[in-house]
Amino acid sequence: MKIKRVNTVAFSPTGRTKKVMGYMIKSWQGSTSGIDLTEYKEEDRKRSFTEDELTFFGVPSYGGRVPDTAAKRLKNLKGNQTPAVVFVTYGNRAYEDTLLELKNLVEEQGFVVIAAAAVVTEHSIFPSFAAGRPDSKDRARIQEFGKNAIAKAEKCENAKSAAGISVKGNRPYKEYHTIPLTPKADKKCNGCLTCVRKCPVHAISEESPRKTDKDRCISCMRCVQNCPQKARKVSQLPLKLAQRKLKKVCAVKKESEWYL
Ligand SMILES: Cc1cc2nc3c(=O)[nH]c(=O)nc-3n(C[C@H](O)[C@H](O)[C@H](O)COP(=O)(O)O)c2cc1C
Repeated sequence: MKIKRVNTVAFSPTGRTKKVMGYMIKSWQGSTSGIDLTEYKEEDRKRSFTEDELTFFGVPSYGGRVPDTAAKRLKNLKGNQTPAVVFVTYGNRAYEDTLLELKNLVEEQGFVVIAAAAVVTEHSIFPSFAAGRPDSKDRARIQEFGKNAIAKAEKCENAKSAAGISVKGNRPYKEYHTIPLTPKADKKCNGCLTCVRKCPVHAISEESPRKTDKDRCISCMRCVQNCPQKARKVSQLPLKLAQRKLKKVCAVKKESEWYL
């Protein structure tokens, strides 16, 4: 099949998934197009894709599931027997049902999944878990996987003939829980409103940027990472308690998994 374009669709509040995406499509020399589902403006934007566009989808695992913001925004994308590669990133705990859920979501939208991966990345809440990953060895493996996935799409007659991979995960999916860690700003906040603009779910208002709407916040840490004053933080005590709880399971080095 002749691939006209490679598209990327990513939800990536703190950029790790986006980085993996970059490695994955590095070997592709042709035209590309990117959709960043992290941006609030993508909430209602509808797009459709043809059968000769190979589309890579990447999301982080949140509590072993696809972040519900990403799941909602994915529903605006319409494939037409469009070949797809799906991957999740996760912070060395577990990805549980995330990859299966992403595969199913994408297929429900008319895409045909021909390859999939679960990639270990530094944990975006607890960066001491999987610190520095993907490292140079991971990076080479991600690039190789991406190259092989593109070759698979180019070799097959149509997407359907390359379908049929089966990924880890269970149905019904595990219950969706976000981590109740809501960042807020301290005195260092100078009201620059970067956090307001960057928040994927509009949980921070222009009127009181030091506060966060707890009901909207998805604990993605994008505001913490992007604050130029380093003013935004989560409370230390719940953070330390959660870290202690995860320490044992996250201490064992996990390897990424590839489905081709
Ligand atoms: C709210 C939240 C929940 C998370 N849940 C998990 C999890 O269940 N398992 C895991 O291994 N990592 C988990 N992580 C870590 C992220 O999946 C990982 O760091 C990911 O690469 C972040 O992607 P991003 O940088 O593109 O936002 C979680 C991170 C956040 C912010």
